[in-house]
Amino acid sequence: MNILVTGGAGYIGSHTCVALLEAGHSVVIADNLCNSKRESVEKIIDITKKEVTFFEVDVTDQEAVDVIFNHNNIDGVIHFAGMKAVGESVEIPLTYYYNNIVSTMVLAKACQKYGVNSFVFSSSATVYGDNAAPFVETMNLLPTTNPYGETKAMSERILSDIAKADSEFSVSILRYFNPVGAHESGLIGEAPNGIPNNLMPYVTQVAKGTLNKLRVFGSDYPTLDGSGVRDFIHVVDLAEGHVAALDNLKKGAHIYNLGTGQGTSVLELVKAFEEANGIEVHYEIVERRPGDIASCYADASKAERELGWTAKRDIFAMCRDAWKFEKNYKDLVEIK
Ligand code: NAD
Ligand code: UD1
Repeated sequence: MNILVTGGAGYIGSHTCVALLEAGHSVVIADNLCNSKRESVEKIIDITKKEVTFFEVDVTDQEAVDVIFNHNNIDGVIHFAGMKAVGESVEIPLTYYYNNIVSTMVLAKACQKYGVNSFVFSSSATVYGDNAAPFVETMNLLPTTNPYGETKAMSERILSDIAKADSEFSVSILRYFNPVGAHESGLIGEAPNGIPNNLMPYVTQVAKGTLNKLRVFGSDYPTLDGSGVRDFIHVVDLAEGHVAALDNLKKGAHIYNLGTGQGTSVLELVKAFEEANGIEVHYEIVERRPGDIASCYADASKAERELGWTAKRDIFAMCRDAWKFEKNYKDLVEIK
């Protein structure tokens, strides 16, 4: 299939492009590079030795998106493009609602116009709010505490309604847990701008000495060691989950958790990182971070049953590959 991958230059999108190309699909990337660099497209080509078509466009621009559909024989869409910083979404909600929701509608409209019925959407476990883990796809969604989460819940509803009204439309809604790690080549990975908000990039930057000390947010959660528990998933497993979702699309809207089904605490992750890489990570325990929940992990059985997909890489592989990318990425930057 010829797949339009929006946000394909970004963290999860770039790994998914590699997985798609390796599975024999071809890829057209549409990305406005607001949170990524053009070089990641070159790296996708380096890794796979395959061709990639790239458009630097904003996918909220209906005309530009229509031009892509018109000239590229698109068979399906994987829609990653979006803004994802929870804290920022509270500060600039309109930008988040506009970017994340309008992009979904523009793409759905182009699909209708050009007869494309295969759609895969990047959602997030954040839509479960503070339901009790493990999270199951059939749970009622609780309001999230931030505009980012609301954009995901609304996009899910829009796509589900389209599938209800149009019996030809197939959409897979993928709720990701906590993607971490990098491609084993060390060429692509997560490179956030500025000081990272998320745990793994913070850990790798402390290990590297770029940041001083990790702050572990909270030690009094009702978890095995008091720190927060998350379902960390290797980004390459997540990427392979998209190929499985695409290959198993069914008419209608279908929701899948993409996680390992296993919770790991923040302190366990730090220990695994130290063991996997033989390097110490300095940390201190501080107050809880506002808005965090104690435990977030998937019931991942539906994806296994219906897509034949399970995550294969363990927490040590996640830590090893994240560290390899961090070292390599900094080296590349220093060389320039
Ligand atoms: P990312 O920021 O690395 O990638 C997103 C890409 O989309 C970037 O390359 C950015 O330049 C592009 N983009 C944003 N708005 C665009 C627009 N209007 N037009 C064209 N391109 C645009 O983020 P990621 O971690 O790869 O996340 C991909 C998707 O997965 C996002 O929708 C995100 O909300 C979702 N998600 C991510 C996580 C996570 O932990 N990383 C968790 C759950 C869901
Ligand atoms: C957050 C978002 C989620 C988003 C995901 C990936 C919230 C409530 N959720 O998930 O919507 O999909 O990021 O972008 O914001 N931690 C530390 N020290 C740090 C950083 C994190 O102890 O410096 C802890 C957190 O308290 C948490 C765990 O590590 O317990 C994971 O945090 P993080 O990586 O930010 O992801 P989430 O909060 O799970």
